[in-house]
Amino acid sequence: MPNVCHDQRCVIRPLTFAILRMLSDGNYHSGTELGQALNVSRASISNTLQNLESYSLTIHKIPGRGYHWLNPVQWLDNGQIRQHLGESADSMQIEIVDMVESTNALLLQRAIDYGIFTNKIKQVLAAELQTHGRGRRGRSWSSGLGDSLTFSVLWPSQCAVNTLSGLSLAVGVAIIRALASLGIHGMALKWPNDVLSGSGKLAGVLIELHGDMLSPGTVVIGIGLNLKLSGVTKDRIDQEVADLASITGKVPDRNQLLAVLLKELAAVLDTFEQHGFEPFREEWTHYHAFQDKMVQISLPDSSVRNGIATGIAPDGALLVSTSAGVLQLRSGEVSLRKLAEHEHQPGN
Ligand code: BTN
Repeated sequence: MPNVCHDQRCVIRPLTFAILRMLSDGNYHSGTELGQALNVSRASISNTLQNLESYSLTIHKIPGRGYHWLNPVQWLDNGQIRQHLGESADSMQIEIVDMVESTNALLLQRAIDYGIFTNKIKQVLAAELQTHGRGRRGRSWSSGLGDSLTFSVLWPSQCAVNTLSGLSLAVGVAIIRALASLGIHGMALKWPNDVLSGSGKLAGVLIELHGDMLSPGTVVIGIGLNLKLSGVTKDRIDQEVADLASITGKVPDRNQLLAVLLKELAAVLDTFEQHGFEPFREEWTHYHAFQDKMVQISLPDSSVRNGIATGIAPDGALLVSTSAGVLQLRSGEVSLRKLAEHEHQPGN
């Protein structure tokens, strides 16, 4: 059966990845050559390369010349990532997989199955393609092959689980710092941890925890960052999105970008472990997209409140001044949007 896929839960087969890797040199390769190299028939190659448009992968077949991949992706490469990381690589174990349902889910499951790691090594899992990417509040996170960075870090934190409020905000600061170090400026943070460019979402963070509230637990930090979203991916997303290619006019080097993100994340985690969120509060507020703006909060009971986002508490709670007093938002189940001028309603 060909790997036709109109549904994001479908998968690309391992053979497809093997062929794509051969085609990613930008040259023409005949079906016979590909088949011989991969020990499969020409028919198998031909079947495998059909209908990849549903992944926004455009493979041309030119009679007499062979297959040619028009828009090859830049693959993640452990060696290059480690090179960009320099000595920061010593505190990380990095694994790259072609395809996984969710890097967060897999790392969390491994931690549950094998226990908490007592050494200081952070385990990084990056995927070329996630088939069931998870977002906050039960939402999904959509990405396509090579059009994003999708990775998770298993952090062997010494922090008790109940001291981790504010961690997701600190991770947002790490992303902003990483982008800035590559000359990409002008991003903003939306509480608790979206990275915005204008009103489009550029990156999201999902922190998942496992363990007893009062002791150090398993912390998995997942980051999705849009690089050059294909039309197929954009069509799956039901909110305004941004990607780095549109912001900077070019697609960044994925390996360098991942390394810089990991380096900044490691530095932020080390500080957070010692001092909590407080050292990041001023910087977070500086990038706060809605600072002193009128916002609408949707609470888990479906009620809504309007107020002015006045800042962040030392533990990372969002402070919203309403007619009924100052609300401190801690729950990840709360959603937030900026109110347009005409929606401002004093008194609710
Ligand atoms: C959000 O903004 O809703 C959070 C999105 C987090 C997406 C990343 S992609 C890598 C990691 N694995 C997942 O399944 N989710 C996170």
